[in-house]
Amino acid sequence: MAQTHPDPVLQATDVTKRFGGVVAVNGMSLAVHRGEILGLIGPNGAGKTTMFDLLAGSVAVSSGSIRLNGVEVAGSPAHRRIAQGLGRTFQIPRPFAGLTLVENLLIARQHQTGERLWPNFAAWRRIAAEERAARDKARGLLDLVRLSHLAGEPASVLSGGQRKLLELARLLMADPQVILLDEPAAGVNPSLLEVIIDRIRAINAGGVTFLLIEHNIDMVTRLCHRVIVMAQGARLAEGTAAEVARDPRVIEAYLGGAG
Ligand SMILES: Nc1ncnc2c1ncn2[C@@H]1O[C@H](COP(=O)(O)OP(=O)(O)OP(=O)(O)O)[C@@H](O)[C@H]1O
Ligand SMILES: [Mg+2]
Repeated sequence: MAQTHPDPVLQATDVTKRFGGVVAVNGMSLAVHRGEILGLIGPNGAGKTTMFDLLAGSVAVSSGSIRLNGVEVAGSPAHRRIAQGLGRTFQIPRPFAGLTLVENLLIARQHQTGERLWPNFAAWRRIAAEERAARDKARGLLDLVRLSHLAGEPASVLSGGQRKLLELARLLMADPQVILLDEPAAGVNPSLLEVIIDRIRAINAGGVTFLLIEHNIDMVTRLCHRVIVMAQGARLAEGTAAEVARDPRVIEAYLGGAG
């Protein structure tokens, strides 16, 4: 496991999101420390996915501050946050089914010179070199997530768990500093779950910080250095997985089923 530092790579302060009359996130604060794997748990409807949407920028905050590497990003769009080092996966990954795994990674690429200029010969050579480098990177990342044997297959052949691994590789093409994972264990068979846990650890050891939402408490216990519990849009508790699991307020929130 990478060492954790109290240096926030991503920090939300007093964030609120209203959808009409529904307050999905209500004055929520959290800090993701550089190098850690932080878990975000809580009952259904607690506001966890909405919090991810706010952190990633796919949904705008009603109020509050979000800082990425100390820079306020609450007003900036999702694509800019990706360029600034933030990656996020979706609960149900949707790769381009007809494209190969390598192609799925190549279309995720950020800095493409190709479309920007009419290539003269020197530019053409540079573009060809960039293409080669990107292809090598894609193959390396497929190897990292244990999918290289399927590199030339269409994404349609992948199981649910393999799609989650492809999604992880796709994010890594952009060299993120922090990755948000929404329920990486959901719908994944037990043997592939072990691969996912092992790969998240390896990627974390390589310096990438993680924030993950997960209902699978076994995965949270094994993977997360620290856990934050959300209920009814707000922060309820924080600690190790074992500490929050025996916190009476947390037990009450889960038993009450009130998100
Ligand atoms: N676009 C929306 N419009 C209206 N209400 C919404 C919207 N998105 C989320 N909500 C509401 O906000 C609350 C929080 O939902 P959210 O999906 O963030 O919870 P969650 O903690 O991710 O739950 P789960 O564990 O079931 O995935 C719920 O009451 C939900 O119905
Ligand atoms: Mg959710």
